[in-house]
Amino acid sequence: MNTIIEPFKIKSVEPIYFNTKEERKKILAEAHYNPFLIHSVDVIIDLLTDSGTSAMSSNQWAGIMQGDESYAGSPSFFRFEETIQTITGMPLVIPTHQGRAAEKILFSIMGGKGKYFVSNTLFDTTRANIEFSGAEGVDLLCEEGKHPTIPAPFKGNLDVEQLKKFIAENGAENIPLCVLTVTNNSGGGQPVSMENIKAVKKVCADNNIPMFIDACRFAENAYFIKLREKGYADVSVRDIAKEMFSYADGCTMSAKKDAFANIGGFLAMHSKDLALKCRNLLVITEGFPTYGGLAGRDLEAIAIGLKEVMEESYLHYRIRSIEYLTNKLIAAGVPVMQPAGGHAVYLDAKGFLPHIPVNQYPGQALVGALYIEGGIRGVEIGSLMFGKYDEEHQLVPAQLELVRLAIPRRVYTQSHIDYVAEVIIEVFQHRDEIVGMEITEESEILRHFTAKLKPIK
Ligand code: F0G
Repeated sequence: MNTIIEPFKIKSVEPIYFNTKEERKKILAEAHYNPFLIHSVDVIIDLLTDSGTSAMSSNQWAGIMQGDESYAGSPSFFRFEETIQTITGMPLVIPTHQGRAAEKILFSIMGGKGKYFVSNTLFDTTRANIEFSGAEGVDLLCEEGKHPTIPAPFKGNLDVEQLKKFIAENGAENIPLCVLTVTNNSGGGQPVSMENIKAVKKVCADNNIPMFIDACRFAENAYFIKLREKGYADVSVRDIAKEMFSYADGCTMSAKKDAFANIGGFLAMHSKDLALKCRNLLVITEGFPTYGGLAGRDLEAIAIGLKEVMEESYLHYRIRSIEYLTNKLIAAGVPVMQPAGGHAVYLDAKGFLPHIPVNQYPGQALVGALYIEGGIRGVEIGSLMFGKYDEEHQLVPAQLELVRLAIPRRVYTQSHIDYVAEVIIEVFQHRDEIVGMEITEESEILRHFTAKLKPIK
């Protein structure tokens, strides 16, 4: 049997509302060509993010009813804590309301002017929290990761030689932390190998630099290690995840991804001293250490989700469904990130729209075209998200111009995915008609969320 079926049945459904192409043109213009400003009822297939958009299981919903809402010492917290301790091997667990709240706490303590945080690739909120503290974020992605259409098994790896060089040039004392993002979201959902995690840890340890894992998609990363790395084919995802975490001094996690939760996150670590500082901040920003910005019911849903995500029938279906869409696009000649990532399909907007220069935001132009053609909402991960200006207000573009189509977990079926492929291929066939974009309004931090744009006539 070749067809990999969804390893779940559907108990509860949500309606999708259909609109016409003419209506969508108007909606997009009213949203200033920014998908974040479109109302979700106007979207047919929502691939804006895989974050907080998962379908929870019947077990998680049952857990919601078990949630104990005590301010202090709730049994829900202890179930949450124990689950995370078991998976990560880290004794100190601090709940937060989502991933960036964990980041805000961590970088408020560790950050500051003159410091560098090194990473394979920092996610946008992570980078923003680092920069907000006055420090600098430095991406040291491996060479393979910089070429979207050339396949390699672990394109999320950190370049270890570059790391050594950076430490030698800038001084280990100015580098408070190294962050490994698994999988590498901004770099295409590409995994990091165990070998790389180990090698990075060694360099960090030699220089007394702690290493944290940004663990949002740790189970997807672990499954890629099982599939692609020598010696792991017969190791369980649970054990692979455990080994990944064993090299880290701590982790941040958004439970909105691989924990199938609609909200939540946490920090986990070994250092008592750091945990004390984190908890001191936690009480003034998030809440008491046994709930940290979450309801007891959320803690339950996360604890259950963290176990479910490591079920291999689920991961098999998950990784295969992203690959299925990627392969359909490759067969039609559409330039996509290769190989398929863990949670999303990444279109290479530079290759898709070679006639649009980077300072006219080809990724954003493509996002608009996909919405108009089929009501699909994706997100630009390129110069709108990561671009900066130089002194003459000229755009310093991002490394890659990508459009991410993130697939929510357990939400869409194969026919939805077939429809997505058809829409993209249709847009690809008429790509010459797509025009560049210009920004008419923007904010200083995370401008892609609120920027207003218009097409260049
Ligand atoms: N780290 C990574 C790698 C992420 O992908 C995200 C969120 C965060 C941290 C922050 O977590 O949203 O709970 O505060 N990524 C979402 C996305 C928003 O669409 O990729 P959060």
